[in-house]
Amino acid sequence: MTKKLLRVIAGEAVDTPPVWLMRQAGRYLPEYRETRKQAGSFLDLCYTPELAEEVTLQPIRRYGFDAAILFADILLIPQALGMDLRFVEGEGPRMDWPNGTPDLGALKPLDEIDETLSPVYDTVARLSKSLPEETTLIGFAGAPWTVATYMVAGRGTPDQAPARRWMYNDTGGFADLIDLVTEATIHYLSRQIEAGAEVVKVFDSWASTLIPTMFDQFAVAPTKRIVAELGRRHPGVPVIGFPRGAGAKYASFPEKTGVHAMALDQSTPLATVRASLTKPVALQGNLDPLYMVLGGDPLKEAARRLVDEMQGHPHIFNLGHGITPDADPSHVDQLLSAIRG
Ligand code: CP3
Repeated sequence: MTKKLLRVIAGEAVDTPPVWLMRQAGRYLPEYRETRKQAGSFLDLCYTPELAEEVTLQPIRRYGFDAAILFADILLIPQALGMDLRFVEGEGPRMDWPNGTPDLGALKPLDEIDETLSPVYDTVARLSKSLPEETTLIGFAGAPWTVATYMVAGRGTPDQAPARRWMYNDTGGFADLIDLVTEATIHYLSRQIEAGAEVVKVFDSWASTLIPTMFDQFAVAPTKRIVAELGRRHPGVPVIGFPRGAGAKYASFPEKTGVHAMALDQSTPLATVRASLTKPVALQGNLDPLYMVLGGDPLKEAARRLVDEMQGHPHIFNLGHGITPDADPSHVDQLLSAIRG
């Protein structure tokens, strides 16, 4: 029998939606914090297949989510391309170019990136054997635009202005960076699929910062290329797009890119996007992550409203963004009983 999440992506409406949470393996779980300590650093955790497998499985054991998402990070690609990456405790990622200044020529060629990334494929292969048979394994990468924003700024900023400046000033040069990241992403996702990923998700977390014309060039076009090439190499493996904060641009995103399902942030009404889609696809989302900190009746009521809003339509229940470290693990149980009864 086909797994529930895959049936929903194929267009089936089910009474009780499949559910998983962005960042479900993470710091809100005591067992994650324990394994993370054992690994030493976040990046060591990403690159140690036994430990990355373990933290991926932790939320599945505890909650029985319908999907497990590979434990890794979207910034492993720039690191594999030769950028110096570290995660500063309490501050987030920091990155530097090999020559201290943006220079595509100083990056490693694509045929060398697996020297860094191969442990990630090992993690996927291990998970495809160890996961319960009803659980779908999701691989992922950052969308080229979002990855490029971190490469250019060297960190997360409130509006990713450094990448937008380069994009406006030197659109052709910036397009070369996007092309390079797109090629690396196609290879990386393709290897994850070969190792056993059943679905892949492309996170465009900073899509909200793109004006409409640039959205078409730097969010839509690269995603379209990724979907087309993966479809050629691995027919039948669906792609979930997540152009976070796309607003009115959500409606045509599946048609323009070919993604097979689309995740929405919490600011956008699921039913409105559903009604405006120019190509119908399954929608994922989109509970405000703050409810996971709050818990109780507000959480249960908001979750039920989303389930009711999407009743009769293909829906994957999720948050509108990642669960935060201050969420209470018992609130996830409350959420699941609100959804599953
Ligand atoms: O459970 C999962 O969702 C799978 C693993 C996963 C992580 N990051 C682990 C992680 C996934 C899918 C990501 C995606 C990711 N990484 C995105 C896109 C989604 C989003 O959140 O918008 C982005 C932008 C990143 C880059 C990144 N990684 C940042 C900005 C940070 C620091 C902010 C933070 O939450 O601390 C990270 C670190 C990170 N990635 C952690 C985890 C569990 C926390 C690190 C730790 O344990 O110390």
